[in-house]
Amino acid sequence: MKICVLPGDGIGPEIMAEAVRVLQALDLGFEMEEALLGGAAVDATGKPYPEATSKLAREADAVLLGAVGGPKWDAMPREQRPERGLLAIRKELGLFANLRPAILYPELANASTLKPEVVAGLDILIVRELTGDIYFGQPRGIEVRDGQRYGFNTMHYTESEIRRIGRVAFEAARKRNKRLCSVDKMNVLETTQLWRDVMTELAPEYPDVELSHMLVDNAAMQLVRAPKQFDVMVTGNMFGDILSDEASMLTGSIGMLPSASLDENNKGLYEPSHGSAPDIAGKGVANPLATILSAAMMLRYTFGKEEAASRVENAVKAVLAQGYRTGDIYEPGTKKVGTREMGDAVLAAL
Ligand code: IPM
Ligand code: MG
Repeated sequence: MKICVLPGDGIGPEIMAEAVRVLQALDLGFEMEEALLGGAAVDATGKPYPEATSKLAREADAVLLGAVGGPKWDAMPREQRPERGLLAIRKELGLFANLRPAILYPELANASTLKPEVVAGLDILIVRELTGDIYFGQPRGIEVRDGQRYGFNTMHYTESEIRRIGRVAFEAARKRNKRLCSVDKMNVLETTQLWRDVMTELAPEYPDVELSHMLVDNAAMQLVRAPKQFDVMVTGNMFGDILSDEASMLTGSIGMLPSASLDENNKGLYEPSHGSAPDIAGKGVANPLATILSAAMMLRYTFGKEEAASRVENAVKAVLAQGYRTGDIYEPGTKKVGTREMGDAVLAAL
């Protein structure tokens, strides 16, 4: 049971330290080894996904990641940007299935910008395809054509890519409320017409799951209008990127949301849904709960340790019930704590 630990950039090292403490406290005998990814790797080696990191990530059973990126590296050539490291590790490990739950903890109902009655009890799972689409499509680039600059990218999906993410989503819906909404833009984009066709063809294999389809612009609207209509949503890489950020904010703080990116054998990379938050990095105030909950997802999906996963999730619920809050979820009347104190509280609750 080997875990490749990638703290990354910004608040990454601070939040990762807390997740590692939680894993150690469980005393399950994990072997954990750290490596560099993103800006930290660029600074040390000139590359966002160095060979040593790739080797460790390939050998390990799971990868736990903090966050990558920051303004320091934004002006670098595209090949050296931290985000490239993240895309490269997803692609190399074949992590095509990105699971992004958006759960509203009752204690945080006021942290949402939406009315409490619209979001109370919210529990959505976004299943995002992660290794295809316009993110990886060729050709791509910026060239000079006919005397002016010309930017281009290519959106594409094969039917087998759609089918395999579709199956993950149908299976996930089966374990939940048995409703799956597939999101596309079939009224304009052929790639996503194929997406809708393949999802429709899969449906008879899952007669217990109710499949519906929605155009992405409407889905973006429905997510803020009446988000509780959704159970599981499945969509491509780019739409999933956008909709999962939107869904996360329904819950009040992106600082609470974990994610899992899985390959076909449940090897996975686990990371908080939020970014590296360079504005608060190094101050000890970041919320470590999304990373701790990502570790719980790892226990469940890669290591099959359901009981340990629930223990961690219950400890997080307990600290919220006890009133502990980092700045991102603070409201008057609760106890404002920093990253380390939040980790301490989770350990105590464990
Ligand atoms: C995410 C992020 C990444 C993405 C960036 C950092 C490349 O926004 O994981 O959602 O677009 O996939
Ligand atoms: Mg994103």
